[in-house]
Amino acid sequence: MITNTELEYKGDLYPSKIVSYEQEVDSVYFYTSNSVILKVTILRDSMLRFRYTTKGYFSNDFSYAIDQNHSHGYNFLEVDEKETMYQIRTSKVICNIQKSDLRIAILDIDGKVILEDELGFHWEESYEFGGNIVKMSKTSRDGESFYGLGDKATQLNLKGKRVENFATDQYAFQKEQDPLYKVVPFYIGLQNKQAYGIFFDNTFRTTFDFCHDRRNVASFWADGGEMNYYFIYGPKMKDVVISYTDLTGKPELPPLWTLGYHQCKWSYYPESNVKEITAKFRALKIPCDAIYLDIDYMDGFRCFTWDKNHFPDPKRMVAELAADGFKTIVIIDPGIKVDKEYAIYKEALDKDYFCKRADGPYMKGKVWPGECNFPDYTNPEVREWWAGLFKELVADIGVKGVWNDMNEPAVMEVPNKTFPNDVRHNYDGNPCSHRKAHNVYGTQMARATYHGVKKFAYPKRPFVITRSAYSGAQRYTSSWTGDNVATWEHLWIANIQVQRMNISGMGFTGSDIGGFAEQPTGELYARWIQLGVFHPFCRTHSSGDHGHQEPWAFDEEVTDISRKFINLRYQLLPYLYTMFWQYIEYGIPMLKPLVYFDQEDIQTHYRNDEFIFGNQILVCPILEPNALGRRMYVPRGQWYNYWTNLMFKGGKEMWVDTKFDEIPVFVKAGAVIPKYPVQQYVGELDFDELTLDLYYKEGTEKSVVYEDAQDGYDYKKGRYSFLSFQVTGKKNELIIQLHKDGKFDTSYSNYKINFIGLPFEVKTVEINNEKFDFDKKTFDNVNFLVVEKEFRVLHIIGV
Ligand code: NOJ
Repeated sequence: MITNTELEYKGDLYPSKIVSYEQEVDSVYFYTSNSVILKVTILRDSMLRFRYTTKGYFSNDFSYAIDQNHSHGYNFLEVDEKETMYQIRTSKVICNIQKSDLRIAILDIDGKVILEDELGFHWEESYEFGGNIVKMSKTSRDGESFYGLGDKATQLNLKGKRVENFATDQYAFQKEQDPLYKVVPFYIGLQNKQAYGIFFDNTFRTTFDFCHDRRNVASFWADGGEMNYYFIYGPKMKDVVISYTDLTGKPELPPLWTLGYHQCKWSYYPESNVKEITAKFRALKIPCDAIYLDIDYMDGFRCFTWDKNHFPDPKRMVAELAADGFKTIVIIDPGIKVDKEYAIYKEALDKDYFCKRADGPYMKGKVWPGECNFPDYTNPEVREWWAGLFKELVADIGVKGVWNDMNEPAVMEVPNKTFPNDVRHNYDGNPCSHRKAHNVYGTQMARATYHGVKKFAYPKRPFVITRSAYSGAQRYTSSWTGDNVATWEHLWIANIQVQRMNISGMGFTGSDIGGFAEQPTGELYARWIQLGVFHPFCRTHSSGDHGHQEPWAFDEEVTDISRKFINLRYQLLPYLYTMFWQYIEYGIPMLKPLVYFDQEDIQTHYRNDEFIFGNQILVCPILEPNALGRRMYVPRGQWYNYWTNLMFKGGKEMWVDTKFDEIPVFVKAGAVIPKYPVQQYVGELDFDELTLDLYYKEGTEKSVVYEDAQDGYDYKKGRYSFLSFQVTGKKNELIIQLHKDGKFDTSYSNYKINFIGLPFEVKTVEINNEKFDFDKKTFDNVNFLVVEKEFRVLHIIGV
């Protein structure tokens, strides 16, 4: 790691003046008199890539992060030479490159500066490792805020912080502890209501300084590799996040059951214990879709084996659990036990698939099974082999998902908790040391796992969850935030981490509900479940050393609260699925921090706790014991309190009363929220109507609902149902226009529409311009109508 004194090290080198330039289709090369070349590539009108070399030539261009299918293409490109600079213009930005020192300024087309180099690109030669420590510094103007960077356990706004990216097994991490498990070298800057993004695609250890060291400077650097970053212009934060997610890729839709509730512990075993747990869920009528087997299901922690004493017939057990609606998910770690009798070890050894030290011996380190060797997942042949290993688990035994852990990679009993720097990696044909491969190791493992599970689960969809991840991992896997602790502070951290991951392209994330280490009080567990059901991934997990952590492990009140909130999640499944679809289709984050929701409102820039779940539900957790409510900021617009159905105007900080069985939840006025009946697991019930909670507002609001077969790939052939409800409220009437798209016919035939906040008494109802017979008296009492799903216009007219 380099320190700041080293950053300003007098041995820093700088580019000298530009001597020539050359344009090659979408790229412009600038050559300097001291062998620095800057290559600017125009990917889109609002996205430029800056790549620097100090050697006079570029090495092979290879990235694990970039999605090969990302959007590419611009409307306008012009390169001009001026007296003191070169200028690149697109339809969205102007990029000025100083002739004297290669410094960059990026402006919007009105000439307003978006981002400007301070020292710009500079570097320090690394005698020890060869290559350079590559550095970049940008001027930061007053009032600038910074967001992004994955799983950092600190305030959402990173202004004033310095953070580091080096995937680390950080058991029981603390607030502000850094680095953690994930590596997402992407940030969003927001200044003067204009947002831009920087993605520094460099897999070495990277550091970002957001005005921590010097008040008006934001800088980032890497221990090796290239200065290689993407600039993304907004001006809306939404456009920055969407473009970044498009660049690094989106996942496929997960099966709907993965959005249900998951139960996990280290460890449920033997089989009878697993069955006891699953039976209790059903007996207590607490919905649950997935049950996890942690490392103790294996024979001596050997991956892809079973402890036959504890699990004599896994296939039967998995089938019995499936018959009760439970999907079995098993853990698989990267460490392969050194054991000449163990088939997987022998095969990997024969095929030479393990990572090696610089001078030839295998990388050996201790993990759960004792001494292990570790497959080199950066070798495509190894990934292929690894994928094939899932045949028995998935195709034969029927396991539905795989949990990849310890893949930072974690090594026990060594000071740096991971591989030494000299370990060699294939890096998809670009051989390198662990310094470069460390941060992508976990992602490449999850990628190989994903291909295996997908292959053998087909035609069903796969499910993979990983602890370590680099940018782009979202294409293959979901993730969780690692080994947190059962404290109130960690509830605060979990809330921020999951929001941050959502604006960092990796939305399918959740925390260990209740805390992994130590034991939560019933109150803390209840408050955590109340937040956790609003996270894209929703799982209770604990280390098990300190007692039980199932929803019934505390007292009846906590059990009831857990059931109430898990029920709510199951009711909201079509809403959740729709937000997932918007994520995979458009890259829209599923959770939106307030600053993302309304960047124009400066009040949102330093908010941590409140967030938007999907597009129309505002959630704010209770983060303290004995709370009867809390202060929170409600963003601009009109909102309904979900519990009281009372509407009020936002744009202010306010006190919100809550009880122990509630947290502040609000629905945007005008929204149509789709709901399923409570089911004990996805697909348990056939139902004949989709509930729509319609929140009246004067004005127009659009809501959408995406549905499909809930698993499988038919949705890619157009077999989905996409409903778009345009709701227009007037003083004395309400008009709902429904537009449908897609070839999937949902199994229900009606909508049950609950009208919330109607300000008038209903006199007549018309469907498609024809009078609809309804029982006015009943309606006045219950405020709902059941209508056939085929309507186009529903017109409610007041007295
Ligand atoms: C560490 C993981 O973070 C945790 O979730 C898991 O239970 C243990 N390893 C044991 O596998």
